[in-house]
Amino acid sequence: MLKGKRILLVISGGIAAYKSLELIRRLRERGASVRCAMTKAAEQFVTPLSVSSLSGEKVSTDIFSLTDEAEMGHIELSRDADLVVVAPATANILARMAQGLADDMATTLLLATDKPILVAPAMNVRMWLHPATQRNVEQLKQDGVAFVGPNDGEMACGEYGPGRMAEPLEIVAAIEAQFGKPLPKHLMLVQPPPAQSLKGRKVIVTSGPTHEPIDPVRYIANRSSGKQGHAIAAALAARGAEVILVTGPVSLPDPPGVKTIHVEAARDMFSACFLNLPADAAIFAAAVADWRVAVEASQKLKKTSDTPPTLRLAENPDILRAIATTDAKRRPTLVVGFAAETENVVAYAKKKLASKGCDWIVANHVGEGSDTFGGDSNRVHLVRQDGVEDWPRMSKAEVAAQLADRIAAFFSESAPVVKLTKPKISKGRS
Ligand SMILES: Cc1cc2nc3c(=O)[nH]c(=O)nc-3n(C[C@H](O)[C@H](O)[C@H](O)COP(=O)(O)O)c2cc1C
Repeated sequence: MLKGKRILLVISGGIAAYKSLELIRRLRERGASVRCAMTKAAEQFVTPLSVSSLSGEKVSTDIFSLTDEAEMGHIELSRDADLVVVAPATANILARMAQGLADDMATTLLLATDKPILVAPAMNVRMWLHPATQRNVEQLKQDGVAFVGPNDGEMACGEYGPGRMAEPLEIVAAIEAQFGKPLPKHLMLVQPPPAQSLKGRKVIVTSGPTHEPIDPVRYIANRSSGKQGHAIAAALAARGAEVILVTGPVSLPDPPGVKTIHVEAARDMFSACFLNLPADAAIFAAAVADWRVAVEASQKLKKTSDTPPTLRLAENPDILRAIATTDAKRRPTLVVGFAAETENVVAYAKKKLASKGCDWIVANHVGEGSDTFGGDSNRVHLVRQDGVEDWPRMSKAEVAAQLADRIAAFFSESAPVVKLTKPKISKGRS
């Protein structure tokens, strides 16, 4: 399909530029020839020497280079290709393309070409969702530019959401589609931001572990990273919901467009959740410690030559059950719990659904080798009164997107919007 095809690859200055090296290899393996142009910023991420070595061609970086112009002028270069691909495409180069700027070699080639252009955007989620970027994308689509990606996922900066560059093989598939091969469905178009299907809804989400203090320097914790809960908060906010994220200690940035409340212990999380009622929905993704140390030492426990101290445990409040069974005025219309199990995942989740009084349980596998704790993917079952949906292993961002869409569908079929008034509940630990 690509044998003998000439690709002009424009590399702009994003962290995903390293993936364009892999893209060059994949294209050449398929018989295509690849000439590259790089922006000045791209040279900060990959060297022209690496690009030139892998492509086997000279790399164009400077529009005012006398030798380059003498060998092959920029107009000739822009036409001497069957397809122009921009990967990664930064927010900046999309803006320059949409404006028709030609202020360096890369954008001059893009403006001078008479060949089809395919771009693979790559940027931080907020940059991608910014109205200016979305306007530029819309303009470029109207100008006939084709897009592949961006994908949802974890960013190099630690945030979740759309903005990751499509994988090199996905870009290859999109390039082949430009030459007539049918494109896999999920790559068809740039994925638009999701519809505002939860506008006017308020949702509380919990995330992360809790830290139960032993003394001022020690605590009991668990392995939860908060990635799934944070991804759910981001997915709900991207659909227009007002999201209150109550998170235990995690090393993730606060998701965009979400009011984030940071807590330490289960009792703080309990109070923060109740203080933020009423809400239309509450999603309890946090791995809340079942127990705390009954009496927290006010000073650091000292190591003595006697026997080690004995920690007496007390039960923590059950946030899921408390909110699912609170009075009808305050109970969210939809209460969703999470169950992390190492075995008999669905059976335990069904039991939990009945015993906690919640509406749905998202049951996930956390057994050995599952990669759920701290990993980027998750395999879940959505357990409802009317049946169980088994979802295949997906990225946590995809699980979050699916769950947010199910929640939006639930509300579009039922419940009126809650009145957003705050109840009077005393602050602090209960
Ligand atoms: C470490 C680092 C990573 C960056 N990653 C991206 C990115 O992935 N996407 C993006 O649009 N801009 C990114 N930028 C910002 C661009 O490099 C910057 O906007 C630059 O002006 C882009 O120039 P260009 O479009 O001419 O290549 C990053 C900057 C730094 C310092």
